[in-house]
Amino acid sequence: MQRVLTRELLNCVGQKIQMRGWLNNLRSFGKLNFLLLRDRSGLAQIIIENKDELNKLAGLQPGAILSIEGRVVAAQEAALKVEVVDPLITVENPIREVPPIEYYKPEIQSDLEFILDHRPMALRNRQIQAVFKIQAEIAHAYRLYMHDQVQAVEYFAPNVIGASSEGGAEFFNVDYFGYTATLAQSSQLYKQIMVGANERVFALMPFFRAERSQTSRHLSEGKQFEFEMGFFNHWHEILDIQEGCIKFILAYLHRHCKTEIETLQNQIVKAPADVPFPRLTFAEAQELYFQRTGIDEREEPDLSPAAERELCAWSAEKFGTDLVFVIDWKTSKRPFYAFPKEDNPDLTNTFDLLCAGTEITSGGQRRHTYDSMIEGIHSKEMDPSNFSDYLSIFKYGMPPHGGFGMGMERLTMTFLKLKNIREASLFPSDTKRIAGNRIKARIFFGGENIRNEIIHQLNMRKLDFQHLVHEPTPTSQDSARVRGTLLEEGIKSLILRGKNTKKNFQFNIPSHMKLDMKAASDAVGEKCEFEEPSIIQERFGLIVGGVPPFGHLLNLENYFDEQISQQARAAFNCGLPTESIVLNSKDLISVAEPKFGKFAK
Ligand code: 4AD
Ligand code: MG
Repeated sequence: MQRVLTRELLNCVGQKIQMRGWLNNLRSFGKLNFLLLRDRSGLAQIIIENKDELNKLAGLQPGAILSIEGRVVAAQEAALKVEVVDPLITVENPIREVPPIEYYKPEIQSDLEFILDHRPMALRNRQIQAVFKIQAEIAHAYRLYMHDQVQAVEYFAPNVIGASSEGGAEFFNVDYFGYTATLAQSSQLYKQIMVGANERVFALMPFFRAERSQTSRHLSEGKQFEFEMGFFNHWHEILDIQEGCIKFILAYLHRHCKTEIETLQNQIVKAPADVPFPRLTFAEAQELYFQRTGIDEREEPDLSPAAERELCAWSAEKFGTDLVFVIDWKTSKRPFYAFPKEDNPDLTNTFDLLCAGTEITSGGQRRHTYDSMIEGIHSKEMDPSNFSDYLSIFKYGMPPHGGFGMGMERLTMTFLKLKNIREASLFPSDTKRIAGNRIKARIFFGGENIRNEIIHQLNMRKLDFQHLVHEPTPTSQDSARVRGTLLEEGIKSLILRGKNTKKNFQFNIPSHMKLDMKAASDAVGEKCEFEEPSIIQERFGLIVGGVPPFGHLLNLENYFDEQISQQARAAFNCGLPTESIVLNSKDLISVAEPKFGKFAK
């Protein structure tokens, strides 16, 4: 018998059919038992009256794989208006373990952290599924629009690249065969290069951002809908395409995702086809925010999140659309490639599109002559030699051009009025998670946890060491005295901060010496300073006198001064100022696996 899907049942009334899927749940009302079977198209209701059939399900949990043969009958009261009766059940894969999260209920009641901790299971929930089905349709509609209506050509750009494309400090470096490469913050440079080939181009590209703050609208990995076009009469044609794109996608969702939108209680953004998105200049937007709230941010270079919300509320009230463009942003706040206005170079031909309270897109016209681009790169204190491929396009001819980058997760979140962007990412990465999983190093937070882990790691390797508990020791002489070790055997562990990236590093030196900050800065590739004690406390749960030379437990790059390896023994505080460990230096080095250099003077 051919397998029939839930969504096809309505066409099968009166027929005998086969279904396959997951046991979602089973409810019993006396003799009547309702089995919900989940397949890729929905939940089918199966009525079990026969005791032998019911017994086959005894002890099975949601997730068990079942195959069912039965008869389809009309049922007015059922959600699908049909149900399956007289089933013959085959258990294909019996699952007896209770799932850790109640995904099989219509709505998971748990908080977002718990849902993310159980992401693979939570994705089986109907509401969560609806979000990602809609996201998939958004991506499909974007492609259709760009390909069919705009006649743009899709490109596929690299993600491991040589230099930051957006400037700022929000990028990740990766070790690339001993060189430092960067994870792309966008495919900005490549889409402009592709304009030189195809004039109109688009992409759905991953992006990586080292956003250090945990907010409800920032991820460290996501997707961007990219677009770029050459030759326009007025740069506002980019806004026209952006607006057409949003309206096309929304119309597409209303046509193709009716069920999913209903499952999400019709919480979807409003953007009537015949209402243009209002276009405010940045200055007008600031003024409007001031007029409406009395809060004066007119001297600020950026819009605050509260201002973004207010502007969208205004647009919804006044025009009945949840979207609003803000144009003509200050040059100081836009990337090096933004096109300065000819009559006022303090402003740029750029825009943001706000949707239901949040920025979803940035875009605009780009500088397109070689000299202007060099000027832009210099104005942001960047180095043109990092951009040689990119710069060549301007040397050899670029038309006026521009485009935009629209965040896929931001779009999904604002379209569906979700509260947190993590609800719109299958496996979100942020400061606390990588691809949905909690970052393991976070477990080692706080002096006692860190001490326990150090002792655990030493024991695992069967290394000899002494663990001492003593009075607090303000100086390295005090430490040597209570530990009964030599002054030069003591290790001072310092946490530094990169002035540019704000990233932390650990440097370890003999305790009677001073750190050579210049040598440390050279080693990490940027100017460094000492991290604030309050930040060390907040980030690692350590007080300065207790930091151990195990940077890897804190997720830090770890450096040792080479003199540490010249001593036979090493002594250090193991997370707490009142506890120390003494062991052979070579053993310490084998566990801490540091990089070496001359860092003490
Ligand atoms: O505003 P952004 O940084 O602009 C660019 O990347 C430019 N290359 C765009 C252009 O064509 N000029 O990023 C574009 C969009 C944002 O509006 C936002 O929707 C999304 O990408 N985005 C993020 N989404 C989630 N988390 C983050 N950390 C994001 N960073 C950017
Ligand atoms: Mg932006």
